Parts: sequence; structure tokens; C-alpha cells
Amino acid sequence: MRPYYSKKVIKHFLHPKNFGEIRNPDGIGDTENLRCGDVMKIYIKVKKGKGKEIIKEVKFETMGCAPAIASSDMICQMVKGKTLDEALKIGYKDIADKLGRLPPLKIHCAKLAQTAIRAAIENYKNKKDKNDQKRKT
Ligand code: FES
Repeated sequence: MRPYYSKKVIKHFLHPKNFGEIRNPDGIGDTENLRCGDVMKIYIKVKKGKGKEIIKEVKFETMGCAPAIASSDMICQMVKGKTLDEALKIGYKDIADKLGRLPPLKIHCAKLAQTAIRAAIENYKNKKDKNDQKRKT
């Protein structure tokens, strides 16, 4: 019988490399799946240069199932060093593919990670817009 979770899911669940909090983050994505109760928070630090904004640091805190933790760790790994636009293009299927495979009942865990990173980027952009407005007034 094939194991329920892929080796990659188990590896990222047991040994996540991006777990933790970033102090004074540039953006926070805070999400929850109301049906299962899993909670995910992603923090980002953004570096600006040569007209591009790049995610230079990213961490997560997740309270949830093994695929939720593995998806959180994987999305952090996937967006590190990417521009905001590149990070926004990453979808839940990309996260699931990188994890080898997710059981159909657990695909929403990857969706939660997609929502969390997009929320963190949106939070960063909103803060930046507010700061730009303040500078103008
Ligand atoms: Fe809901 Fe994993 S069971 S995010």
C-alpha cells in the first residue's frame, strides 16, 4: 500500500526550515480554514532594488495538520528570493506538486498556504501605500 503522505510532506512536516516569526516584518498573512480550524501565519521581509521588490526573508507559524505545516514550509522555500509578482503567480497546485503529492482531502492545506503568502504580500503593499500617502501629505 502506498503511504498516505509523500516523503517530501513528511520531511517538511518533521524538519521545517522556515518555521518561526520575523520581528518587524514588512508584511503578515494571517489565514484560517474555518472548516478544519487550521491557522497559518506567514511573515515576509522585502528588499527593494533596481526597480524590483524581492522577498528576502520569509517565515511561518502554523497550527495545523502535517500537510498544512509542509505546505507552509514549501511556500516559504518557493518564494524566497522571488519578486512579489513571481510569488503571486505561485498557486496551490504548484505547492502540492513540489510536495510530491497531497491526498485530495488535503489539497485545501496547500490552498491555505497560497492564501497566506498572497495575504502577506497584500499586507505589505497596503502598508507601503499608506506610507507613500503620508509622505505626500
Ligand atoms: Fe485543514 Fe490541513 S486539515 S489545513
